[in-house]
Amino acid sequence: MSPAGPGDAAAPAPRPARADFGRLPARADFGRLPAAVAVIMDGNGRWAEERGLPRWKGHEVGAESVRAVTRECARLGLGELTLYAFSTENWRRPAEEVGLLMTLLERYLVEERAEIMDNGIVFRAIGELDRLPASVRAEYERTRDMSADNGGMVLRLALSYGGRRELLHAAQQVARLAVERGLEHALALEEDDLRRFLYDPTMRDPDLLIRTAGELRVSNFLLWQASYAELYVTDTAWPDFREAALHAALRAYGARERRFGRVAPEA
Ligand code: FPP
Repeated sequence: MSPAGPGDAAAPAPRPARADFGRLPARADFGRLPAAVAVIMDGNGRWAEERGLPRWKGHEVGAESVRAVTRECARLGLGELTLYAFSTENWRRPAEEVGLLMTLLERYLVEERAEIMDNGIVFRAIGELDRLPASVRAEYERTRDMSADNGGMVLRLALSYGGRRELLHAAQQVARLAVERGLEHALALEEDDLRRFLYDPTMRDPDLLIRTAGELRVSNFLLWQASYAELYVTDTAWPDFREAALHAALRAYGARERRFGRVAPEA
C-alpha cells in the first residue's frame, strides 16, 4: 500500500500544532540569545536534604544538570558557558564533602570527554588550579588539550575559583610589569589591558548570569567579567535545573533591555 497523499480521502488530518509539544526550541525561537552565559550552580545540598537524601546525592544529580545544560547550550549555539563548580570558599567544607566533589569532578572529566569532543566543545578551567588534587588536574589537562582545537562552544569550569583572588592575581602581575617595564608603563594600562592578567584572557564577559536556588548574591564569582551581566535568579535548585529551566532564563534575557549605563533609545 502506498502512503496516503495530501489529496487522499483516507489521509489523516494535518496534525495539530500540539503535535509539536515537547520539541526542543530552535535558536530562532528565542529572538536574542546571549553569546556568553555564566551560572552559579547552587542548592545541591538543600535539594538533597529536602528529599531526605545525603548531600552528596545532590551533587551527583547536579552533575547530571551540568551535562544537560551544557548539551543544550551547545545545541543552541551559545558561544561560552562558564559554570561555578568549586569556589575558594568551598575548601572550608568538611573534608568528606570536598573529597566527594573532587571525585565527582574527576569522574566527570573522564566520562564527559567523548561528549565534549562529539559536540566540538572547547573545555577550559579558571581558578587556582594548582590547589586541585594532582589526579583531577591531570584529567583536566587531558580534556583541555584534547579539545583545544575544537571550534564550538567554550565550556569553562570555575574550579577553586574566587573573584577577589583572580583580581589579586591580576594586580600582582601589574606590579611585576611596573618593576620590569617601569611605573609609567603600568600606570598607562587601560581597562581592557587588565584582561590579559585574568585567569582566562580570552573569556568573554557573560551577558547573562544565572543563579539557582534563590539567593540574591554574587558570591565572589566573576567580579570583573560580570560587571554588565544581566542577572537571573531562579528558586529552582541546581539538580532540577534542566532544559526547560534554561529556556526560561534565556527567554527572560531576551526580554531585557541592555543599556550599559546609557539611556534607552527613543521609540
Ligand atoms: C552548590 O550546592 C554547588 C556546588 C558546591 C558546586 C556545584 C557542583 C556540582 C554541580 C557537582 C559536580 C560538578 C561537576 C562539574 C561535575 P551547595 O552544596 O552549596 O547547596 P546548598 O547551598 O543547598 O547547601
